Amino acid sequence: MNVEAKPLVVISGTSSGIGLAMAREMLERGHSVLGLVKNAGTDPLRHPDYRREQVDLSDPDEVQERIREIAATLEQPPRALVNNAGIGRMANLEQLSLADIKLVMNVNFLSHVIVTRVLLPLFKRQGRGDIVFTGSESALRGGRQGSIYCASKFAIRGFAQSLREECGKSGVRVSIINPGAVRTPFFDELHFGPGEAEDNAIAPEEVAAALAMVIEARPSAVLHEINLSPLVEVWRRK
Ligand SMILES: NC(=O)c1ccc[n+]([C@@H]2O[C@H](COP(=O)([O-])OP(=O)(O)OC[C@H]3O[C@@H](n4cnc5c(N)ncnc54)[C@H](OP(=O)(O)O)[C@@H]3O)[C@@H](O)[C@H]2O)c1
Repeated sequence: MNVEAKPLVVISGTSSGIGLAMAREMLERGHSVLGLVKNAGTDPLRHPDYRREQVDLSDPDEVQERIREIAATLEQPPRALVNNAGIGRMANLEQLSLADIKLVMNVNFLSHVIVTRVLLPLFKRQGRGDIVFTGSESALRGGRQGSIYCASKFAIRGFAQSLREECGKSGVRVSIINPGAVRTPFFDELHFGPGEAEDNAIAPEEVAAALAMVIEARPSAVLHEINLSPLVEVWRRK
């Protein structure tokens, strides 16, 4: 079966968490999905309308080359691009190495700029489509031990806002979804996470539902930003 016969949604970071939930939601809604994953061996999703490509978003040069190669294999232009993959390195600034700082900025910001830059002409040529970013509440306000993570998310939000202005006349919509605490493996390596009670975090499926709203909005309306978080956000130290 040709997995690209259905409208194609390209999503980065489909191996877990929010990206995985987004991929499932889009598949359920009749799209085909191309997942961009760091390790081709670790993607749990199996579906006839899903395929994946390996791209390490920590290396900007590799990203540009890989996305060009992948773009050349597409049998149809994407209906949507969801720049979702991301990592957290949370510590006081002087505890972060230069390698940590580059990694966070490359994965959370620069790689998304490059992926978008390579694919944007495909959207402009068809005169439609959605480019969506997974931002964060950390794109809205800074916080202790979040200097570089917040900087990466503020950067992607500024990029999204500017791109929206650039692309509107071409029929291309740009949106950013800013979640608060979401219960995902994002916190596995961090020294804190959402509180243990179910209500202390939202579910990745709720962020995926926000993506569906963005993509299914009337074509001449654009949802600029969606901010969503648990009603009462509770964090715990591990
Ligand atoms: N969880 C939250 O509370 C929360 C809140 C606000 C915003 N966010 C944002 O939501 C997005 C998704 O995070 P999540 O919560 O779903 O966490 P997650 O489950 O850890 O997912 C992160 C995804 O990014 C991928 N990724 C990491 N480094 C990569 C690299 N170098 N190259 C390619 N892919 C890479 C991961 O792939 P591997 O599994 O292969 O490493 C994984 O698929 C991130 O942008 C995060 O900043 C999360």
